[in-house]
Amino acid sequence: HLFSNFTKQSFNWVFLSFRSLALTPIQRPEMYIIGAQPSCSQLSGLSQGQRKLCQLYQDHISYIGEGARMGIKECQYQFRQRRWNCSTVDNSSVFGRVIQIGSREAAFTYSISAAGVVNAISRACREGELSTCGCSRSARPRDLPRDWLWGGCGDNVHYGYRFAREFVDAREREKNYPRGSTEHARTLMNIQNNEAGRQAAYNLANVACKCHGVSGSCSLKTCWLQLADFRRVGEFLKEKYDSAAAMRIGRKGKLELVDKRFNAPTSEDLVYIDTSPDYCLRNDTTGSLGTQGRMCNKTSEGMDGCELMCCGRGYDQFKTYKHERCHCKFHWCCYVKCKRCTSLVDQFVCK
Ligand SMILES: *[C@@H]1O[C@H](CO)[C@@H](O)[C@H](O)[C@H]1NC(C)=O
Ligand SMILES: *[C@@H]1O[C@H](CO)[C@@H](O)[C@H](O)[C@H]1NC(C)=O
Ligand SMILES: *[C@@H]1O[C@H](CO)[C@@H](O)[C@H](O)[C@H]1NC(C)=O
Ligand SMILES: *[C@@H]1O[C@H](CO)[C@@H](O)[C@H](O)[C@H]1NC(C)=O
Repeated sequence: HLFSNFTKQSFNWVFLSFRSLALTPIQRPEMYIIGAQPSCSQLSGLSQGQRKLCQLYQDHISYIGEGARMGIKECQYQFRQRRWNCSTVDNSSVFGRVIQIGSREAAFTYSISAAGVVNAISRACREGELSTCGCSRSARPRDLPRDWLWGGCGDNVHYGYRFAREFVDAREREKNYPRGSTEHARTLMNIQNNEAGRQAAYNLANVACKCHGVSGSCSLKTCWLQLADFRRVGEFLKEKYDSAAAMRIGRKGKLELVDKRFNAPTSEDLVYIDTSPDYCLRNDTTGSLGTQGRMCNKTSEGMDGCELMCCGRGYDQFKTYKHERCHCKFHWCCYVKCKRCTSLVDQFVCK
């Protein structure tokens, strides 16, 4: 069956297995051939509300998947030099079981994925791919110079934000855990972190302009709203990860700071309720892959240094060939020609 891949997967998170749906139509040519989207009843793991939204907005689904994929890729980039590198032992979803613990890392994955969904949907609107939205209709910024035109087709971050809020949070809102329970705390944590991610994507969108006029004189400018480069969103949320607030469930059934001396988190901040495992050893319960076999940097004193990365277990040293472009020369006009150099370098791998 065409979509048997979809039904076989278990969908633990938003509703999608990142591995199947987070493929673009180009990687799944059958989507183009029959012009179809996977039908909602064939997707397992949707919450009830998400299934309804899926039916109403079928053309959004592949973009949600694309957004989630973008989130994972960015997560893996941001954490490439950390013990936890955004991969887990559970391969039914990329984040797998690590997110069962309400850790900082879970907070980051929820926020970056929600941001990815805002991003993908907003862009799809602008590109005319969705039937329910189009170019951004946000108001002209006050500080835009008067003779610049406003109204090129912009990324519809307003729609992207609202849709992601409906869809991503749907499964959290449907839960009915007793107030004050651990599960309720986790639900509140997820909602907060989803929102922080959406706001990052929304708030970092900015004005972009293009010049017109006689031979590039730029006497005329057209401007529109444009999403930030997703790397910026990743860096922003990584800072939020570093400053995430430790929370616990309070007597009124709301999250409160563990240490009241800190400032209360705003809706842009990440929060967590469980301390993180150290991610040193493989542990199928926590979803930690461990750091055995990871590359490390012998001279760095940071998290990528061999001491910290290998958790004091030591490392093996290898020699390996490194290929790079070198002796580059500029040729008139206009290209650069390089040679390929090979050198023998040391590499360090955790025991
Ligand atoms: C990953 O998936 C493959 C095939 O789907 C399965 O055979 C394997 O056991 C899985 N690995 C883990 C660690 O779950
Ligand atoms: C895995 O982690 C859990 C929770 O931290 C811990 O109780 C358990 O002992 C660990 N298992 C192994 C094999 O280290
Ligand atoms: C993350 O680390 C594991 C080993 O701990 C490794 O197998 C995997 O390739 C790494 N993933 C990425 C994206 O670097
Ligand atoms: C290792 O760390 C040092 C110090 O932080 C840095 O200067 C160097 O470029 C790193 N090496 C590699 C291969 O990343």
